[in-house]
Amino acid sequence: MLKTKILLVGYGNVGRGVIKSIANNPDMELVGILSRSPERVKKEFNAVPVRAMTEAEAFISEIRPDVAILCGGSKDDLPKQGPVFAKLVNTVDSFDNHSRIPEYFKSVNDAALAAGHVSVISTGWDPGLFSLQRVLAGAFIPGARAYGFYGLGEKGGLSMGHSDALRTIPGVADARQFTHAVPEAIETIRRGENPVFQPGDMHTRECFVVLKPGADREKIVETIRSMPGYFAPYKTTINFVSQEELDSKYKGFPHDGLVIAAGSTGNGNQAQVEFRCIWGSNPEATGNVLVAHARAAVRLAAEGRKGAMTILDIPPSYFTQLDRDELLKHWM
Ligand SMILES: NC(=O)c1ccc[n+]([C@@H]2O[C@H](COP(=O)([O-])OP(=O)(O)OC[C@H]3O[C@@H](n4cnc5c(N)ncnc54)[C@H](OP(=O)(O)O)[C@@H]3O)[C@@H](O)[C@H]2O)c1
Repeated sequence: MLKTKILLVGYGNVGRGVIKSIANNPDMELVGILSRSPERVKKEFNAVPVRAMTEAEAFISEIRPDVAILCGGSKDDLPKQGPVFAKLVNTVDSFDNHSRIPEYFKSVNDAALAAGHVSVISTGWDPGLFSLQRVLAGAFIPGARAYGFYGLGEKGGLSMGHSDALRTIPGVADARQFTHAVPEAIETIRRGENPVFQPGDMHTRECFVVLKPGADREKIVETIRSMPGYFAPYKTTINFVSQEELDSKYKGFPHDGLVIAAGSTGNGNQAQVEFRCIWGSNPEATGNVLVAHARAAVRLAAEGRKGAMTILDIPPSYFTQLDRDELLKHWM
């Protein structure tokens, strides 16, 4: 079988998830890794050549990947790396800063069009799978309102962005933040009431914080509760724990979520669709979605397509290894 050659750009949680996913997809092959800290990566994983980000162009000419999966952070890395790599190779990324997707799309699209590459941006589960469900629901139930809930299970879902925000507070040694959906809010929608919610109506936030020696506990509580956007609009519980407790009880990257779209058909018959994801590991799940998009990106490029795209632009059969016969016989 001719395998799709994948270059990994950036080695963090999602990067590790992509490597595990490639191992589970027999038509995919990891051919190299680019990182700003190659020595760190080599200590953990050296089954393929690992090079410094500064050597990107030469490395790509040498290993000739079909597609690069960009696993840098959405806040600071991808806005720079996305357009740079779109000039060099077909790309896929999970840029998740929702409000900045239009400008990110434009910068990657300009670079990919000029170079004749395909760049699939902002995929994963949200944005990604959930975006697709919102759009499908809106098309099939005109006028539907779509809601997103995260952290439905007992432990809630680990929010990596909010955990990072806690760790920036002076006096905080380590922290993890679990998001909990408000069950009553979900029930209101399922009853067909279709309400307009404020962010704090739908989710609560639970923080587990390890303090540095001598840290001002009261000040940290105040800083967390008043952090705009992150915690200020939400009912927030703050627990101080030891590093050992944090590492043993709250490890891993579990997350889950639900899209519900609700509206009506005809003359007011209630209509709803729900799509739920449960992930034992958010970065591994995101890695799987990225690898399926890498397969699609290579197929689109082989058809001569170019420019930036999202999950909304790709036929579902392009994501799968299954052929048309199999899809028609068993998956329709
Ligand atoms: N769309 C979705 O559903 C979805 C879901 C999950 C995550 N995401 C996105 O994926 C992005 C990446 O998430 P992540 O959890 O993989 O972030 P992360 O672990 O912080 O990794 C981001 C980058 O930081 C560098 N890095 C990681 N660990 C490091 C360390 N110990 N020392 C020095 N540098 C290190 C790596 O780049 P270098 O190798 O170049 O140093 C890595 O590519 C997030 O920003 C998020 O936006 C999207």
